[in-house]
Amino acid sequence: MRLMDHSIMTCLFSIFLVTVSAAKPPSNAATSASPVTPANQLSNASTATSNSFQTNATTTSSSVDPSSNTSSSLSEDTSSRVTTSSCTTRRCLANMLIEKEALSQPQSPQCTSIIHVPLIVYKTLSVDTKKLLFKSCLQVMMSWEDPDLSWDTSVYQYDTVVLPVRKIWTPDLHVANGVQTNTTHGNQDLLVHSNGTIEHSVIMNTLVQCQVNLYKYPFTSDDCAIAINAWALNGCGMQLKFGNVNITTADSGDWLTEAVELNAQGERNDRNYLLVSLKMRSENQFLSLVLPSILITLADVVSYALPLGNRIGFKVKLMLSFVMFLNLLSNFLPGGGQCSPIIECHFAFCLIILVLSTLQSMVVTRLAKCGTLLPGSLSKSKHTNLKDNGENGDEEPETNISVIEMKDSKKRKNKPLQKLLKLLKNISAEDDKAARNHCFANKVDMICLCIYLIILIVYTAVMAYYYFGSPCKIDPLGFWN
Ligand SMILES: *[C@@H]1O[C@H](CO)[C@@H](O)[C@H](O)[C@H]1NC(C)=O
Ligand SMILES: *[C@@H]1O[C@H](CO)[C@@H](O)[C@H](O)[C@H]1NC(C)=O
Ligand SMILES: *[C@@H]1O[C@H](CO)[C@@H](O)[C@H](O)[C@H]1NC(C)=O
Ligand SMILES: *[C@@H]1O[C@H](CO)[C@@H](O)[C@H](O)[C@H]1NC(C)=O
Ligand SMILES: *[C@@H]1O[C@H](CO)[C@@H](O)[C@H](O)[C@H]1NC(C)=O
Ligand SMILES: *[C@@H]1O[C@H](CO)[C@@H](O)[C@H](O)[C@H]1NC(C)=O
Ligand SMILES: *[C@@H]1O[C@H](CO)[C@@H](O)[C@H](O)[C@H]1NC(C)=O
Ligand SMILES: *[C@@H]1O[C@H](CO)[C@@H](O)[C@H](O)[C@H]1NC(C)=O
Repeated sequence: MRLMDHSIMTCLFSIFLVTVSAAKPPSNAATSASPVTPANQLSNASTATSNSFQTNATTTSSSVDPSSNTSSSLSEDTSSRVTTSSCTTRRCLANMLIEKEALSQPQSPQCTSIIHVPLIVYKTLSVDTKKLLFKSCLQVMMSWEDPDLSWDTSVYQYDTVVLPVRKIWTPDLHVANGVQTNTTHGNQDLLVHSNGTIEHSVIMNTLVQCQVNLYKYPFTSDDCAIAINAWALNGCGMQLKFGNVNITTADSGDWLTEAVELNAQGERNDRNYLLVSLKMRSENQFLSLVLPSILITLADVVSYALPLGNRIGFKVKLMLSFVMFLNLLSNFLPGGGQCSPIIECHFAFCLIILVLSTLQSMVVTRLAKCGTLLPGSLSKSKHTNLKDNGENGDEEPETNISVIEMKDSKKRKNKPLQKLLKLLKNISAEDDKAARNHCFANKVDMICLCIYLIILIVYTAVMAYYYFGSPCKIDPLGFWN
């Protein structure tokens, strides 16, 4: 029993020991650590406190921490990163790009921006031959690069975004020889690629002073230049790189646009121009101007077949109708210009020849009537005619008297017969003279007609020579010199 008690006692004691030994170390550690910690805290107090603050700041994240700016900037960075990664829609991307306020030209190290113009769609609107103005519409596609407007496709997973055109810089083109140029944006928006390439289009309505060569009017064809350029100065600015030009075939009145090509004067970058080849549709003008002038001249020539008296009225009518066409011509053509149209000379010639032939007809008519052109001879001849009539009137009573007398005496029978004979002779002489005059006048008329025809033939030859022989040239790029 005692042994058992002992064993129990030792067992209990060992358990006690085990529990005591298990409980002992913390108390030991606490007693041993307590003198160390104050020193540690003293030496590293500042770092400990800052650490504790920092942990508090990071956990609460939005709290403002005035003690250390490094930690606050760090916390701001993390917070902004959180917001960007949360909003990756197209609108967020667009807003992010708009906020960059890229309103100045893309700033490249070499100071120039290269503007690609891959396509120009050209259309002639009108050609004013009277004022020598030329109106056209250009749709210009452009693309350029603005590295500031690129984005990371791993964050925003879009290749393109649409931005309003007013929020970013767009190139401004101008027409150097334009009288008036209206430029409007093709759209209110433009397309931005993720690599910073921007695509845009503008529509330019431009009015250009073009010295159209009207020398061969109405069979005219000429070139007009539209000098499209961008601003550049001292190696800064923009440089245009052109691609293709397409014509939209729109009828522009009497003028046909045959071709448009891009050129640069003297290989200079800043002197690009579109050369528009224009051709006049001459049928209309030919029918309304040239043909009538030819036909009227022809009618004038043929009118020589008419008898002299009737001819003058006809010729005056021809002249008047020709003046109407002359009026029409002066409405079509400009007052001056380097190469004045040769048709003006033609019309002047036609007018002169019509007037001359009318005058000639008048003269010959008079010649046929009177046989002379001397002034006063007409009144004299009239007087003689009157006198003739008067004499005839005087003679008749005489004859009547003579007839009465004849009854009285048969001796005087011969006298009236003689007088009648004389009268008849005189009448036949008058007829002879008139016939001679007429014949002479007809001869003169024939000669005049021959001269007229010769003049016309010579004129045609001279006209052909000037028309085909010596073309007048106008430099379409004269405005640059
Ligand atoms: C204080 O901290 C630094 C590093 O943070 C450490 O190198 C240094 O030993 C610490 N001082 C004490 C007294 O513990
Ligand atoms: C952490 O911040 C809370 C409230 O913002 C404050 O009650 C606590 O004392 C702070 N702790 C430390 C270690 O600064
Ligand atoms: C912290 O802010 C102080 C003044 O507020 C400034 O002098 C110091 O350079 C800033 N330190 C850093 C790392 O930004
Ligand atoms: C940018 O992307 C567009 C469209 O994919 C492409 O046409 C253009 O060549 C690219 N530009 C550069 C510099 O890679
Ligand atoms: C430009 O706009 C004005 C006003 O709208 C207009 O009168 C003018 O004809 C336009 N010019 C051209 C070349 O289109
Ligand atoms: C240019 O015009 C032709 C004919 O009108 C058309 O077939 C072609 O596709 C156009 N080119 C472009 C780039 O629009
Ligand atoms: C001519 O004489 C006849 C008869 O003598 C006469 O009847 C006639 O009236 C006279 N005529 C003139 C014009 O005198
Ligand atoms: C015949 O005509 C001439 C001149 O025309 C004239 O002098 C003469 O008197 C006329 N004779 C008669 C009988 O009428």
